[in-house]
Amino acid sequence: MLLKYSTGRLATAANGELNYEPNSFPFFSHAVCAWLGLRPAVGQHTSVEHATLVRLAAGHSRLVEIGVAEGVSAIALREGMNADATLWLVDPFHLSRVRALNFTRRVARRTVKSCGNGTVAWIEKFSQDAVASRKEPIDLPLIDGDHLEKSVLRDWQEWSRFIRAGGVAIFHDARVFAEGWCTPEYGPVKAVDHLFRSTSSGEWTIIEEIDSLVVVQRSESAARNAETVLASR
Ligand SMILES: C[S@@+](CC[C@H](N)C(=O)[O-])C[C@H]1O[C@@H](n2cnc3c(N)ncnc32)[C@H](O)[C@@H]1O
Repeated sequence: MLLKYSTGRLATAANGELNYEPNSFPFFSHAVCAWLGLRPAVGQHTSVEHATLVRLAAGHSRLVEIGVAEGVSAIALREGMNADATLWLVDPFHLSRVRALNFTRRVARRTVKSCGNGTVAWIEKFSQDAVASRKEPIDLPLIDGDHLEKSVLRDWQEWSRFIRAGGVAIFHDARVFAEGWCTPEYGPVKAVDHLFRSTSSGEWTIIEEIDSLVVVQRSESAARNAETVLASR
């Protein structure tokens, strides 16, 4: 069964596999219900994607997530990343009708806190504003914020220059797959098609495609060449 928006509870490991229950809480969709414990935090991704995020985070020390929602994908990254890693979480949590209460933000904070691995830095800003103060290189960004095509392209343009040679980037909701929810017209699908399928950049290669996730890797040599050209200017 497709598990988008249906992480009935956080992943539980059984027989070496992550298991989720489908969303059994259709009348408890508001984040206040998660805050009150009437339902668990809900991830907006499939169980297979969740396990993939845990796996891909392994071995990395500087991770960024753009678009946190209730924090379930963030916890996948946190669980998988190195023990000395930092995970920067970028989300303005602007969708709450009562900003002072902002239960999505509260649930996200509590969800992410439930794992003690590494360090988490919250950046409660739009990605386009957060990037202005970015200085550190990035091993792995997960791009899952504003889903308009132009916004995904903007996130890529502004954040990809921080990705180190050999680093990987993950786009969510970025490919059409069997029984999936994405269409060819969906913003992240169009952005990824435009960036990586219509022309070959040489610098970036698609290395994995799992459910709606598209994972690209920055080549070591092309990135070094780009750095050399920049340094010689
Ligand atoms: C699809 S949800 C993220 C789902 C989450 N990654 C998961 O898998 O559970 C999108 C989130 O992006 C946030 N968002 C929207 N526009 C954004 C922007 N420009 N920068 C950062 N976050 C943004 C929204 O507040 C929302 O929480």
